[in-house]
Amino acid sequence: MQDLEYLEKQFAEEWPQVGDSGALQSLKDRWLSRERGLLSLEMKKLGQLDKEARPAVGSRLNQLKLQFTERLEALQQSIREKEERQRQLRETVDIHLPGKPALCGHVHPLLQVKDEIESAFMRLGFTLFDTPEIETDFRNFEGLNIPRDHPSRDSQDTFFLGGDHLLRTHCTGVQIHAMRQMQPPMRVIATGKVYRRDNPDATHSPVFYQCDGFAVGKNITLGDLKGTLEAALRELFSPDIQVRLRPSYFPFVEPGAEVDISCIFCSGAGCRICKDSGWIEILGAGMIHPRVFEHVGYDPLEWTGYAWGMGIDRIAILKYGIDDIRLLYENDMRFLSQF
Ligand code: DAH
Repeated sequence: MQDLEYLEKQFAEEWPQVGDSGALQSLKDRWLSRERGLLSLEMKKLGQLDKEARPAVGSRLNQLKLQFTERLEALQQSIREKEERQRQLRETVDIHLPGKPALCGHVHPLLQVKDEIESAFMRLGFTLFDTPEIETDFRNFEGLNIPRDHPSRDSQDTFFLGGDHLLRTHCTGVQIHAMRQMQPPMRVIATGKVYRRDNPDATHSPVFYQCDGFAVGKNITLGDLKGTLEAALRELFSPDIQVRLRPSYFPFVEPGAEVDISCIFCSGAGCRICKDSGWIEILGAGMIHPRVFEHVGYDPLEWTGYAWGMGIDRIAILKYGIDDIRLLYENDMRFLSQF
């Protein structure tokens, strides 16, 4: 009985020192384990006692076992709660801390300009038409009245793919696609990549972007063309630019024109960019050639139309004052992150 009293005191000293579930498990093993627990060892000693002493010691032992078990269960409960509180505290998000900035991409400057050009013309009533980068000789050349001996048909300039196919050298083939698929009148634009066998330098790239557009209807005039281009170019650059047409030649238009805007850098006074002329050439345009209408089965006496084509890279370069077209294709983050 004295031994048991000693054990009770011992236990009373030990349990308050337990602070976490690991220490609690050790304490449990030490006192209550069936095999090696201190109480079990006492139980095993019962047989060595006098018969008269056994019941009292046995019942005292059972009492202690029950008492210790209850004590440890209560302890386990409070330790569990304490550890759960600590865990929640550890995992709480401090909403006052500044957030980590997310690395976020954005639209490439070239595609930003492409979007702007598309919206400018779509607001004027043009429909966006998607055409393939792989074209037939007919849609890229023949149907557009480009003669057999025209320099752009040279293998020096065109990526031929074998058979009748090639990588489009301009987006102008949209005229053939759209006029064959739809009934006039129509106003259509197409944008996308075009390919030419140029060696890359500050002003050339073997792949670049174009926007072509055209309108077909009755009694369409050069004045309609000029008004349309003026509205779109003023939206793209600035409301006070001037637009002028200079006679020029493209096989698929008659008459054909090169279109200039007043220099956006010097407002026409003359500078290095406009080579002191006050004007910057920006696109090619004209009235759709009767032979193009014939190729798609439209009566050129009944239908009239205008068309234009422009380089999107060139517009981007002018808008942002970029001096090398290759920057638009190199994906250098130091360059791209400025836009
Ligand atoms: N296709 C021409 C080029 O790539 C641009 C062009 C000029 C398109 C005059 C036209 C046009 O529709 O009328 O240089």
